[in-house]
Formats: sequence, C-alpha cells, structure tokens
Amino acid sequence: MVESYIHKTPHSKALYERAKKVLPAGVSYGARYFEPYPFYTAKAKGSRLYDVDGNEYIDFWLGHTTLILGHSPPEVMNAVREQVEHGTHYGTPHELEIELAEQVVKMVPSAEMVRFSNSGTEANMYATRLARAYSGRIGIAKFEGGWHGGYDALQVGVKYPFDIPESAGLTCGATQDTEILPFNDLETAKKKLQGRQVGAVIVEPVLGAGGGIPAEKDFLKGLREYCDDTNTLLIFDEVITGFRLAPGGAQQYYGTKPDITILGKILGGGFPIGAICGSTETMERLNMLVYKRPHYSFHGGTFVANPVTMTAGLATLKLLEDGHFINDLNRTGDKIREQLARIFETQRIDVQVIGVGSIFNTHFTKQEVKNAIIAANADKERLFEYDMTLISKGLFFLPTHNGVLSTAHSKADLSKLLVETEDYARKHKAP
Ligand SMILES: Cc1ncc(COP(=O)(O)O)c(C=O)c1O
Repeated sequence: MVESYIHKTPHSKALYERAKKVLPAGVSYGARYFEPYPFYTAKAKGSRLYDVDGNEYIDFWLGHTTLILGHSPPEVMNAVREQVEHGTHYGTPHELEIELAEQVVKMVPSAEMVRFSNSGTEANMYATRLARAYSGRIGIAKFEGGWHGGYDALQVGVKYPFDIPESAGLTCGATQDTEILPFNDLETAKKKLQGRQVGAVIVEPVLGAGGGIPAEKDFLKGLREYCDDTNTLLIFDEVITGFRLAPGGAQQYYGTKPDITILGKILGGGFPIGAICGSTETMERLNMLVYKRPHYSFHGGTFVANPVTMTAGLATLKLLEDGHFINDLNRTGDKIREQLARIFETQRIDVQVIGVGSIFNTHFTKQEVKNAIIAANADKERLFEYDMTLISKGLFFLPTHNGVLSTAHSKADLSKLLVETEDYARKHKAP
C-alpha cells in the first residue's frame, strides 16, 4: 500500500524534497509527518481534502480534530468574509471577544470568565501559571499519555515509556515539578500524590494523542473529590472534547465540573485559538487591576482574540449550541465503533475500537484499552498499515492518530470507511 501511495503522489514527493531544505523534516509540525512522506494539500471543502496530485480524501483527521462542521462551512465562511472587510487584527478591545466569551460562559458549565489565547499549548501554559499563582503551590500533576501541547511543565509523561524526556532542552525544574499519574487508576494516583502538595491536577477527559481513551466516569468524579478534599484545582483540558462531546464539553457529558477548563480547536471555527475559563474567583488572578506584582498572573499576546477567529468561533458555537448536531454525531460515532469492531471480529482480528462520542481509534490488541500504556503496546505497525491502506483508498486518518466525525461526512463517506475496512480485514484475517 506504500507503493500505491508513492505511485499516486509524485507532486507531493517533489514538494517534500523541496520542503526538507527549508522546513525541518519537511513539515511545520512533526505530528503531520508520516512515512514515506506526507501528501501536501492543495485545497479542502466539506468532508474532503484534495492533494497537489489531485487525489481526493475523505478527511477523518479534520485539522487535528478541529473541524466539527467540516472544511469551510458556508455559515462560518460568510461571517468570516464579512469580518475580513472590517479588519483582521485590531490590537484593541472589541465587541466580538465579549460576545464569544459570553457564548462560552453560556455553554460551558464551569465557565464564568474567559481569556483567549492563540493555541491550546498557550492556554495550558498560562493556566499552569494561574494555578500556581492561585494555589501558592508549584507542583502540577498530569496523567500518563496526556497531551497538553509543547509547554515544558506539561510535556512530560506523554509517550510510553514515560521516563524518557519528550524533548531535548527541558530543564530539571520542568520535570521535577510535574507529577505523572496513571490514567483511570484513582487509587494509585491518590497514593502518588500523598505528600506532594500540587496546586492543580490537569486531565484530558478523553486521552487524545494517548489513543482516544475515555476517562471512566467515576475516575473523573474521584478526582473532583480528591481536589475538593485537598484544596487542589482540577483542570480539564477540553481542547479536543470541548464542543464535541456535548455543547458544554466533557464536563457536561460526564457531569463533573472542573475549576479551570482549557479550550481550543473547535472554539476557533477553523482559525487558531485557545482559551482558559473558570470561576470568577480563579480567573480574577489574571486581572492586573485587582492583583499587582508579584500576585498577578500574566496572560496576553499580540494576536489574542483577533476578530476573525472570534467571528468564526461565534458562528460555529451558535450552530452547536442546541446540541442537535453533536448528539447526531455521537450516535453515529457509537454506530461506527460498533460496525468497525464487528468487521474485525468477523475476521477474528484482535482489535479494540475505542473512543467516545464522535472520537474513535482502532488498537490492534486483545486487551481492553484503559490507559496509554496498553494503547502504546498495541500493534502500531498494524495500525499504520491499516491507516495507509485507507489513505491509498482515499480515506485520510493521520496514521496511528484518532479519527473524528463531522457534520460534513455523508452516509456514503461512512459506508466507504466500512467497505474499505472490510476489504482490509478480509485480506489480513487471522488464520
Ligand atoms: C488535549 C490537547 N491539549 C492541548 C493541545 C495543544 O493545542 P495546540 O496544538 O493548539 O497548541 C492539544 C493539541 O492537539 C490537545 O489535543
């Protein structure tokens, strides 16, 4: 299937050769690279990506899981076009940022105040600092396999084996001040926290990069209780789950409220964004009129709350607010997981098709996937082979990453996924 991919993508190969000279690894983000080289996209619309060789792909990666309404949905694009005529970047306060903040407060159960940033990484970075400033404690706890972006204090314990540094250049402080806890294992997590005095526990309600692994409901509830008992802030990183699992995100879906929520992806309606939100009391630490140095916690940035992003985000949230799109997608997600699992089962291939709502992933293992260690030890080569087979058939999953659904996927798009999976499973059936 790699030969078939190479055969279909000569222009991408040429672009890759050119890109390697000016972009390390030929890409702007390592996660976008896959062997033998990634295809380069020429345009995108609805559920489709089109590469520079004219190949068409049904997109299940959807801009790092961002595009819940598909590529360039007309309602969002019309609003953006109109806004561009009025300016792309003011560098002054404006009404659109108030409107989007009000919309977030209306939809996200634990949000009383909001601050926008340009990415999920940035939002997590400022939230970590806010948590330290608010609690007066430096330690932060995160979970094995949790991905919160490339900020030093949180880029630890992401990939198995978790004791290898995720990047060169991290200081000892960054790693020593972060406690890494086992996901979906409350009792061990609590034991590891004994005597640690962390200011915040940050968790993805569904491990995204870790493999699409949902938290157990009681695990999140237990974390809430632990944080209440120990005066620790609970942070939900809802960069993926926000506005995807429910209009109010995973906290609405699971019924557990965090103190601070991190948002991103869907919130920007296809434009760069991140956000921190939480109770007024917590968020007021960012208020330089109330807190002065050294008690004030800084947040800001040249492009934060730019009016184009605010417009796209607002148009997107208005469409998602009543939940009907999200509920439909969640039902479709349940069905797709069930159908994919049945296809593999019929061919006696050991697979766990996991996820929740409109997020899904396929792990080639017999074991129930409850944490990132089990996901990491599944057969990744097999998953890569399956994903590359799908790519060569015109279905794009960024190899080994989660797939997501959007309102732009048609019934025919989804049946193609089932048909091609059936074909793959038949050809690779267990003896
Ligand atoms: C759960 C989660 N948090 C944070 C981030 C970082 O967001 P960004 O890539 O916008 O910096 C990501 C990105 O994939 C994510 O999945």
